[in-house]
Amino acid sequence: MLLFLSFILLLDSVVNAAISKINVISDVPVRLVDGTNACSGRVEIYKDSEWGTICDEGLGNIEGNLVCFEAGCGPLISIQPSAFFGEGSGSLLTDNLNCVGNESSVLDCNWGNQTDVCDHTKDVGVICDYTLRLQGGSGMCSGRVEIFHNRQWGTVCDTTWDLPDSLVVCKERGCGYPIALYYNAYFEQGTGPVWMDGISCTGRESLLKDCVFKGWGVTSCTHADDAGVTCSEFRLADGLNTCSGRVEVIYENFGWGTVLDNGWNVLGGDVICKQMGCGSALSVNGGSAFGKGLGTAWMYNTTCTGTEISLKSCISGYEKKSLHNNDAGVVCREVKLVNSQSVCHGTVQVRYSGDWGTICHYNWDLLDGIVLCRELGCGPLKEAYTSAYFGNGTGEIMMDNVLCTGSESSLKECSHSTSVNSLCTHSQDAGVDCGEVRLVDGNSICSGRVEVLKNNQWGTVCGDSWDMTDAAVVCRELGCGSPLEVNKGAFGSGIGPIWMDDVKCTGTESTLKNCGSNGWGVHNCVHANDAGVVCREVRLVNTNNTCQGTVQVYHDGRWGTVCHNSWDIADGLVLCRELGCGGNAEPLAGAYFGAGDGPIWMDSLRCNGDETNLRKCQFGGWGNHQCIHAYDAGIICREIKNVLRIEVNADYDVNPNDPSYMTKLLDKLKEELKKHGNFSVKWRTQLDGQVFQEKKLFDP
Ligand SMILES: *[C@@H]1O[C@H](CO)[C@@H](O)[C@H](O)[C@H]1NC(C)=O
Ligand SMILES: *[C@@H]1O[C@H](CO)[C@@H](O)[C@H](O)[C@H]1NC(C)=O
Ligand SMILES: *[C@@H]1O[C@H](CO)[C@@H](O)[C@H](O)[C@H]1NC(C)=O
Ligand SMILES: *[C@@H]1O[C@H](CO)[C@@H](O)[C@H](O)[C@H]1NC(C)=O
Ligand SMILES: *[C@@H]1O[C@H](CO)[C@@H](O)[C@H](O)[C@H]1NC(C)=O
Ligand SMILES: *[C@@H]1O[C@H](CO)[C@@H](O)[C@H](O)[C@H]1NC(C)=O
Repeated sequence: MLLFLSFILLLDSVVNAAISKINVISDVPVRLVDGTNACSGRVEIYKDSEWGTICDEGLGNIEGNLVCFEAGCGPLISIQPSAFFGEGSGSLLTDNLNCVGNESSVLDCNWGNQTDVCDHTKDVGVICDYTLRLQGGSGMCSGRVEIFHNRQWGTVCDTTWDLPDSLVVCKERGCGYPIALYYNAYFEQGTGPVWMDGISCTGRESLLKDCVFKGWGVTSCTHADDAGVTCSEFRLADGLNTCSGRVEVIYENFGWGTVLDNGWNVLGGDVICKQMGCGSALSVNGGSAFGKGLGTAWMYNTTCTGTEISLKSCISGYEKKSLHNNDAGVVCREVKLVNSQSVCHGTVQVRYSGDWGTICHYNWDLLDGIVLCRELGCGPLKEAYTSAYFGNGTGEIMMDNVLCTGSESSLKECSHSTSVNSLCTHSQDAGVDCGEVRLVDGNSICSGRVEVLKNNQWGTVCGDSWDMTDAAVVCRELGCGSPLEVNKGAFGSGIGPIWMDDVKCTGTESTLKNCGSNGWGVHNCVHANDAGVVCREVRLVNTNNTCQGTVQVYHDGRWGTVCHNSWDIADGLVLCRELGCGGNAEPLAGAYFGAGDGPIWMDSLRCNGDETNLRKCQFGGWGNHQCIHAYDAGIICREIKNVLRIEVNADYDVNPNDPSYMTKLLDKLKEELKKHGNFSVKWRTQLDGQVFQEKKLFDP
């Protein structure tokens, strides 16, 4: 634990050290005190031979900007009133500072006088920007290099732009180390002056402006030559692309090292994928699957919740190890959804061929959505959207005319065109809404450990009071018919939070997320007890009765139908039993309840009648058929009910309804009946509540 703390502190101090050096200033009559960095804090001014403070009414935007400028920082971000950064001491200088904005120092402004309602509880503070920023990339650590000089943002020319220069930029911005350099306004052209040209850093400078260059604004460059950089303290090495590989981390000035696979799981993978702008993790690996790294293995026993902004924020051990047999790796997904709060719905972005781009909506339909939701690792598709329903995506439009059959594991396997129709613009971007409940580690999407997405994090459900009513909500939500069995721990232990415990569904909820529980994340459970369910892979549709309708079977990720060729009572008996619907089957042909949709999965079924489910019967093979939906098979399953009247002769002084006789008598009768078949027996009572009746009272 001590080791872990020192690791985090060390890494943070690297960043803070880089930032705090931005403003080593002297002989300046302005200082910012007690803030979180050198460019925020309580405003203190050296005037009349002492440091004093300013009352919050006394400082507006013009004055605030001048204070930031004089403190050596970028433009004003916000004014913080009421001693936000603590109360100062010393004199109260004014509550009415008035500057024009072009002064070279606040001391040249009109100072007014402080009134007696002004005291240190009103000391004003400011938060100023840095003097260097990266614009137009994703996040604060990637983009066009911009520098604030002479109260104006301007850019940097790329003529001599190289690694040592970018090293200084990443360091100054507190962003680790450069992973890519960009030229020719890659991040679009900036505005304002081109401030720096001919830059030549050694790499040891802490500020870009301390490097050698031609002089402020001395250049023949235009904004078409703007330089850019992407910095990171992490990278993925030796993978298939920039979104897969061995996880590597920069530690202080010691260079790139690796992460050990000890404790490494998909939650850590999610963090690093997000950090690299690569969506979420598809899979993680260990044992140096992407080859052995060099340098030191800096992190081990890495424990993330999945929502950290940087892998650096995960709990981790820190140890200098140089053996590389167990380096951790990750493969990030090549698809993500944007423009919404949830990772399971939004505008589709794919990166199958390099950069992230979008999909044009021509031919975008449910089959494509089914494949996409599966590829994203979300619950099953709810709706596929066209016309940038969630808002325009970004990047190039990469795919058009996507035509999936529904069984592909990735959109890139679906037929599609890459030469995009010229009519496509981002206002035609495809979108999708996938479920936030899923079953994992079972053998289909209709069985497995129950997982729920909350706060964009997948977690599990406690199996302790998990029952068929709860499971029925899940099976229905997933479009998987009704539950066959529930269990706890049978599908293995999940990772991440245990989101729900003591789940109490009423059975009418449209999603498990609406069922009662102890509250999100409140539990006294362990992952070994994670709830699981097996839903039936047969269902009846086109009626409101779960025991009659058009037959559908689930295969290869999709519901389809059964053809009526050779559909008979033996087949029906197997189906009714599989549905848990009683044992009297009436098979129906010719789409009796209406045609189903999806593939025609089964044809020429030949069950013996004693199989436990339809797929154990003989048939022509999945999807092999000579049929049309007008010949879809249907069924009516009924309970078999027989009412028997049994006559008992009792001796004159014996009352058979006397409990001491009755229980024994009924047990004996039941035993006799069960010799003739496996069924349940209920005793019928008459209006007076008695089981045994005199013959003359009996109501047939
Ligand atoms: C500042 O601007 C004012 C007009 O807004 C002008 O009168 C004054 O001379 C300027 N001062 C300096 C130092 O440029
Ligand atoms: C500030 O107070 C002094 C002395 O009390 C006075 O001479 C001066 O005019 C005042 N200045 C302002 C701007 O009110
Ligand atoms: C990693 O964590 C496990 C379990 O929490 C612990 O037993 C093990 O000692 C840790 N590894 C190291 C190298 O500390
Ligand atoms: C979306 O893209 C279209 C076409 O490129 C554009 O006309 C429209 O302004 C964009 N909408 C938004 C909100 O950016
Ligand atoms: C099922 O019930 C709903 C609501 O009661 C009704 O609108 C619908 O028509 C019914 N469907 C069938 C096939 O009976
Ligand atoms: C009767 O049915 C029950 C449940 O359906 C089953 O567990 C039991 O083995 C069956 N008994 C016989 C004799 O078939």
